[in-house]
Amino acid sequence: MQFLEWEDSYNIGVKEIDIQHRGLFDIISKLSATRRFETEGRYFLATLDKIVEYAKIHFATEERYMREAQYPKLAEHQQEHRSFFPEVEKLMKDLENKQPNIHQKILDFLKDWYMSHILGSDRDYQKTLKDKGFT
Ligand SMILES: [Fe+2]
Ligand SMILES: [Fe+2]
Repeated sequence: MQFLEWEDSYNIGVKEIDIQHRGLFDIISKLSATRRFETEGRYFLATLDKIVEYAKIHFATEERYMREAQYPKLAEHQQEHRSFFPEVEKLMKDLENKQPNIHQKILDFLKDWYMSHILGSDRDYQKTLKDKGFT
């Protein structure tokens, strides 16, 4: 089953951000499509590493726009960004320790995070960016 279907309505309207959101979507989608759960988890670990690197770049980009647009909830949003990393680190440890059902837990976490953060919290700054002429 597909992780999600991409929809154009997911776009924020700022090209740089939209490309990154789509990039993260594609990485998670590809991970979701893999059926290599039974291996030693190297593919999952490598992908999580990639997601962490990608997320760092993406969060920095997004925070730059929010700062420039004087988005009032910047601090709150930054906090949400920061909380992503310890959660991923924990999942990576659980994967290394071969916790039962960990592959599914990782996919569920990434999917939930994408839905609640990128398709949720990120919508909130959209209006500010639009009002300030960034979109
Ligand atoms: Fe985002
Ligand atoms: Fe964000």
